[in-house]
Amino acid sequence: MHPLAPERKELDPIEIASRDEIEALQFHRMKRSLKHAFENSPFYRNRFIEHDAHPEDLKSLRDIAKFPFTTKQDLRDTYPFGMFAVPQSRLVRIHGSSGTTGKPTVVGYTQADIDHWANLIARSIRAAGGRPGDILHNAYGYGLFTGGLGAHYGAERLGCTVVPISGGMTERQVTLIDDFKPRIIMVTPSYMLSILDEFRRQGLDPRESSLQIGIFGAEPWTNAMRQEIEEAFDMHAVDIYGLSEVMGPGVAMECVETKDGLHIWEDHFYPEIIDPATGEVLPDGEIGELVFTTLTKEGLPMVRYRTRDLTRLLPGTARSMRRIEKITGRSDDMIILRGVNVFPTQIEEQILKCKGLAPHFQIELTRSGRMDSMVVHVECTAEMAEDSARAHSAKELAHHIKSVVGVSTRIEVKDPNAIARSEGKAKRVLDNRPKT
Ligand code: DLL
Repeated sequence: MHPLAPERKELDPIEIASRDEIEALQFHRMKRSLKHAFENSPFYRNRFIEHDAHPEDLKSLRDIAKFPFTTKQDLRDTYPFGMFAVPQSRLVRIHGSSGTTGKPTVVGYTQADIDHWANLIARSIRAAGGRPGDILHNAYGYGLFTGGLGAHYGAERLGCTVVPISGGMTERQVTLIDDFKPRIIMVTPSYMLSILDEFRRQGLDPRESSLQIGIFGAEPWTNAMRQEIEEAFDMHAVDIYGLSEVMGPGVAMECVETKDGLHIWEDHFYPEIIDPATGEVLPDGEIGELVFTTLTKEGLPMVRYRTRDLTRLLPGTARSMRRIEKITGRSDDMIILRGVNVFPTQIEEQILKCKGLAPHFQIELTRSGRMDSMVVHVECTAEMAEDSARAHSAKELAHHIKSVVGVSTRIEVKDPNAIARSEGKAKRVLDNRPKT
């Protein structure tokens, strides 16, 4: 057994229940949740009636496909509180999406929703190898973003000692890690890289730090990045997924003993994969857009919410619940360059293959005439900063991207620290093409 894996007796029984038991629970909860949405949210009532879908029509889990999708636009159209299924006075908390333009999308939680969420985060931290009594450094942003408070309540629920530092002030992050000696860190993978740089700047050996477990999410990251971080800190790095519309972090979680994709906490969320173009439900194993129906949420039930995240469903391994493969990216972040689909994660993978390059990068899109082009801005490592090494790395990266991803790119190798650092989610794509 993996030294950090929880024992079977520590798990919630449903984590290792049979598929039949899980599906029976899902069906019961789905029916109740659809009824709750229909009876208490005018938005859903109208939507269901328009689509001639009634909660009574649900005879099996697959019948969920008869119900209409919900999208981010629906949340925008009903801003701020129009989709809720309980009176505002029953909500104990509001969060918002991290959208960078326009108004945020608002989500709300009853006390029962907050309780479920804390339990699922506690379950997620345990799956990562965390235990009651661990010190947990929480560098997800606190505020409207669900990362900070979501992780916080769950870590407390598990019985951890939480350091609620939030994002930013990187120098202090490192000082507190060095002083408080946390065993666990929760942070976006891109901000973890900034913390890594700061360790080195302060002359501290990251491999000697107290950190044994990193719980990274809120943005796409690759297995190549996992390896980079695990080696740099001599730690285990696992993936956590979630989105504010469905709850926040803790919708799906990778187990430390397998690190083979993320188990969806299927007792609270029912997943489907659809063809993003046609909306048709795809069989498990096929790549498409992830869609969730919440099974227990009171404040803001979500029926077939289109996440825009691309992945596929896989059978359970460490737990009975199905897994999603690491998210390739959001359909909104997909770059179509001269007919080829490109995701920032594919560029990240190639950068990590090149010895002289650091995984700090940004992709710039430009247009001259009718031709789009892509420039990858990437930093060199401090050891490989001279011109000839840079030219070599640029050539190597262009070659990898051309042969693996299939597009020609211009590579700009920059000085260490030249690329803007994120304190939360990294902004990977700069679209400088003229707006049409
Ligand atoms: O990012 C919730 C979260 C906080 C998850 C902390 C994990 C850790 P939003 O701001 O609503 O919520 O953004 C949700 O972020 O639809 C994905 O596109 C992306 N995302 C979240 N986790 C992952 C992940 C939070 N592990 C959006 N891998 C989602 C890839 C992720 N993308």
